Parts: sequence; structure tokens; C-alpha cells
Amino acid sequence: MTKKVFVMSGKGGVGKTTVAVNVAAALAANGYETGLLDLDLHGPDVGRMLGGGIIPSLFFEGKIAPVVFGDTLKVFSLSMVLQEGAPVAWRGPLKHRVLEEICSKVDWGEIDFLVCDLPPGTGDEVISAFQILDPDGVLVVSTPQEVAIDDVRRAVNFVKKMGKEVIGFVENMSYFVCPYCGQKSFPFGEGGVDKLSEEFGVPVIARIPMDPDIVALSDSGRPAVLYKKGSILEEEINKILERLLTL
Ligand SMILES: Nc1ncnc2c1ncn2[C@@H]1O[C@H](COP(=O)(O)OP(=O)(O)O)[C@@H](O)[C@H]1O
Ligand SMILES: [Mg+2]
Repeated sequence: MTKKVFVMSGKGGVGKTTVAVNVAAALAANGYETGLLDLDLHGPDVGRMLGGGIIPSLFFEGKIAPVVFGDTLKVFSLSMVLQEGAPVAWRGPLKHRVLEEICSKVDWGEIDFLVCDLPPGTGDEVISAFQILDPDGVLVVSTPQEVAIDDVRRAVNFVKKMGKEVIGFVENMSYFVCPYCGQKSFPFGEGGVDKLSEEFGVPVIARIPMDPDIVALSDSGRPAVLYKKGSILEEEINKILERLLTL
């Protein structure tokens, strides 16, 4: 049975796609058959973070074949079928239909996990995604800063309203360790996600530091977790995997 995991947040730019890509890559590297589905119709970044510009997806017998990354990670992103730079100006009902189409047509085969990267917030397509895919667990990503926290609170309440469980918070860009002096600093503040964790009784399952390598590797299409062996990033992503394995 495929376990469907949503990666969402109240806010853009907090690292949802980075977390989704690295979690999916780590699951696949650990031998789990994994699908990674990009549901951010307006900002389909999964393709870029896995090294693709436009990778033509194969259509056969009315089905869409996901692109296989490495040996075991199957990926579908709208960026793989849209012209580069083409705007996506669709209204709600059309987006719902596109999502239905994607969800019913992409042929994942037998997979253990389907990791879904959601757009920011709780708009049309997020509601549609919950209705169509019915996730087994939701990971909520946030930076520790107050503006993000306000929006994340709304997102958690949204998930509850949809009758689903937030299985954990991922605090991204938690802190920064100076590569020269080793001192730890907190560019986005401290404690915001812990406050939410207490408020909702939901654990913080991982804290990922700010790391310029993550930007460089993501931009060049390489999931950082596969290239930074023995790093804190790898340790923290493994904590997420441990939780997912209990779903
Ligand atoms: N832990 C991190 N350290 C440094 N940069 C990060 C980290 N996580 C994400 N980023 C960078 O921040 C930007 C936004 O991340 P992204 O995953 O696209 O966010 P979202 O999907 O929430 O919009 C990207 O440029 C990404 O490379
Ligand atoms: Mg994103």
C-alpha cells in the first residue's frame, strides 16, 4: 500500500520543495520505491531541483510515465510538460481538473511512498489535493520567524479541518553555523516552531540548518542529502524517514 505524504506550509520560500525532494531522494536511496509528485502548478520547482529543464514525460495508453531519477525515484512535475517560462494562468475549476488528471493519469506502478510537494498556503489546489489524494500524513515546513509562524498556524488548522493529521513540523533554516569560526547564529529567530509544537501537541521532527551547499546543490539539480554524507542535513532527513516508516 502506498503511503501518501504531503509536504506543505502556510508560506512560500520556507523550503517545502527542498524538504520534499530530499525526503523522496533519501527514501529511494534507502531502497523504498518512491514517487515524487509536484503539485505546485504555478511554481513547479521539483524538476529543476532534480536536474531537469523540460524532460518530456512519456505518454502511453492514456497514461503518463513519470521520469525515473537514479534507479528508484519516480518523478512527475508540470515543469516536465510545460514550455520553459510558460505562464500558468488557470482558475480554480481548471486547476482542480488538471490535478485530477495528473493524479489519475500518472502511472506510478507499485510504490511504497508518494511524496507530494504542495504550493504555499491553503488555496484552491491544496484543497483539491486533499480531496483527490487523501494523504496518510502531512509534514508542515516552517522557518522559525514570526511571519511564517502566523501562516503556518492557519495551515495546521486547515489540515485539522480537512480531517487529516500533521505528523510533524520540519523547522527549516533553523540556524546557521559559521564555516570560519563555528559559531551558531539564528538569522530567522528562535523558538517559533517550538511554540506551535506546544500549541498543537505536534512534534518538531527535524531541524535543518541554513546551508549554502543546499542552495548550490539544489540549483544544480542534485538532492543535497545524497551528496552531503554524514551531514546534519542527512541526520535530520533520516529522522523524517523514521517517522514516515511508522505510517
Ligand atoms: N536549509 C536551507 N539552507 C539554505 N537554503 C535553503 C534551505 N532550504 C531551502 N533553501 C533555499 O531556499 C529557497 C526556497 O526553498 P524552496 O524549497 O524552493 O521553498 P518553497 O518550496 O517552500 O517555496 C531555495 O533557493 C532553496 O535552495
Ligand atoms: Mg516549492
